[in-house]
Amino acid sequence: MARSGKATVIGAGFYGSTTAQRLAEYDIFEEVVLTDIRDGWSEGLALDLNSSRPIEGFETRLVGKTTTADGSGYEVIEDSEVVVVTAGVPRKPGMSRMDLLGINAGIVRGVAENIARYAPQAVIIVVSNPLDEMTTLAQIASGFPHHRVMGQAGVLDTARFTYFVADRLGLPVGAVKTLTLGSHGDTMVPIASACTVDINGQTKLLAEVLPPEEIDALVERVRGAGAEVVALLKTGSAYYAPSAAAARMAQAVATDSGAVMPACAWLTGQYGISEVYLGVEAQLGKAGVKRIVERDLSAEELAQLRLAGAAVKAKAADVASL
Ligand code: APR
Repeated sequence: MARSGKATVIGAGFYGSTTAQRLAEYDIFEEVVLTDIRDGWSEGLALDLNSSRPIEGFETRLVGKTTTADGSGYEVIEDSEVVVVTAGVPRKPGMSRMDLLGINAGIVRGVAENIARYAPQAVIIVVSNPLDEMTTLAQIASGFPHHRVMGQAGVLDTARFTYFVADRLGLPVGAVKTLTLGSHGDTMVPIASACTVDINGQTKLLAEVLPPEEIDALVERVRGAGAEVVALLKTGSAYYAPSAAAARMAQAVATDSGAVMPACAWLTGQYGISEVYLGVEAQLGKAGVKRIVERDLSAEELAQLRLAGAAVKAKAADVASL
């Protein structure tokens, strides 16, 4: 099998290390780089992951590197096609994603500047929270064109929604399709018209299978799903589903697959919304976001999406100064 290219994951905590593991196990890259400011941590994980190759049967090489805020060590990311930014602090129980804004802004700004210096052609996928704001900041700090900077949220929120519906109905997850757009937070917008379930060989709208109040309750659970995990873990936040989402996005970019998935992407008038990073469906490839895919929304869905755009925009106005 032909392997090519290089993917980098910045931040080797729970989210970053599992993302690197997934990317390496796809066995499509020549190299997966993992960096962190914790001395020796990335090198240790890379050694451990490389030792799993004979067992799991993949040849992608993992390279771990300790970096510093002033950019030393960053030469290891040169020529990366895609860089996933997971550096930052996760939530503690009771915290909202927005509570992380101040501390993670400083981290993401520095990381984005170093990416611009050492991998100026890369596509950046941001996962650090608060997601929409950190994606906005990474674009500003890197100076990259908007289509080469995106954030991961919708693939995860959609997966959570799909799982909750499948679990409620006792169906395989493969029999359920859901979609959420909007922000990765309070203004997440479930798209009911795109939610379907396959039952007895028939595809039905979710709204035909569950009453509105039950769907609302499931959506509310999706909105709080990250916090639900944080409350159970007590230290740290979710990473298995988040890393699966980020790795699939990075794969779509690196392989130029053209896959359409929800992503936090820059809008230029789609849905009547412009100049803001927001969760919409996007076609991904080597250029990053190849195009935004607009679908027919109900009047209510459209109104909610515009509200989400306005909410992110209001916050994003402060982000440039962080
Ligand atoms: N450069 C590189 N790595 C950094 C930097 C930096 N400037 N600052 C912090 N890190 C590293 C930390 O050393 C740590 O290893 O980021 C890692 C974060 O890992 P965890 O604390 O395990 O957090 P994780 O669960 O991986 O979440 C990371 O993703 O979902 C979001 O809200 C979450 O913002 C958080 C991010």
